[in-house]
Amino acid sequence: MNERHYINRDFPRHGMRPMSTDMDLVAEIILINHLNPKVCWEIGTGKADWALFINQYMNISPEWHLTENFDWATTTNEAIMSYIPDNWPKNLTDINNHIRKMYKKNKKEFKYTLYDQDILKIQNNKLVDLWRIDCDFENLDQSIEHMLEYSSDNVIFFVDDIIPSRCINRFVTMMDQVRRGNLELVWVGIGEAAWTKPNTLDLPNMYHLFQKSAKYFRKFSLIDDKIIYNRNTAYFVIE
Ligand SMILES: C[S@@+](CC[C@H](N)C(=O)[O-])C[C@H]1O[C@@H](n2cnc3c(N)ncnc32)[C@H](O)[C@@H]1O
Repeated sequence: MNERHYINRDFPRHGMRPMSTDMDLVAEIILINHLNPKVCWEIGTGKADWALFINQYMNISPEWHLTENFDWATTTNEAIMSYIPDNWPKNLTDINNHIRKMYKKNKKEFKYTLYDQDILKIQNNKLVDLWRIDCDFENLDQSIEHMLEYSSDNVIFFVDDIIPSRCINRFVTMMDQVRRGNLELVWVGIGEAAWTKPNTLDLPNMYHLFQKSAKYFRKFSLIDDKIIYNRNTAYFVIE
């Protein structure tokens, strides 16, 4: 029985197709169910499948705030077009319809608000416990600063496509925040990573939780009691 089989058996997709690897999704569920974030934002939500999938396996039903920029899906840029599936949402109605369809199927409460606006223009009146960043920004540094300003003390940031051959700027920008003392890197997966404010998580305890789910992770490690990472995919030194 291979690793993939285990993951699919324990976390069936129920028709959702988040653009993440199974191993990253499992790690995210472990971290999220440890922190129980109540206010969650995803920037670059696409069909909302990442949020729907995570919501399905969360202990609580948080409020989700999902932002999209439909220019991406209606672009004429060939490189982007070759990457976008045919049924990619082109407006808020398309996302709403997909969410309703998934709710009919899965029946897990999904509390959400959709935005077709740049994150810098959105008025935020509740502190955010979880940010997921899955898109590019005109000014990434400024956008991260803005998100930090509206973050709770227990905030966790999940950032997708952080490997150097994808969106290296995302990793570099987040690590700038680490150097400024605002964030710490807590987990590195196959294509995604997570940051919290310093000392939010008891990492050795988190590592223990990961060990309990060891069947999902071929190999993973804890570096200097600080960062959990999938050993087969990541190698780096943090000073
Ligand atoms: C990789 S897809 C998202 C997939 C989805 N998060 C998932 O995991 O299932 C990236 C999405 O970000 C959107 N996007 C691009 N730039 C954006 C921006 N500045 N703000 C919000 N959304 C943006 C694109 O239209 C696209 O749908």
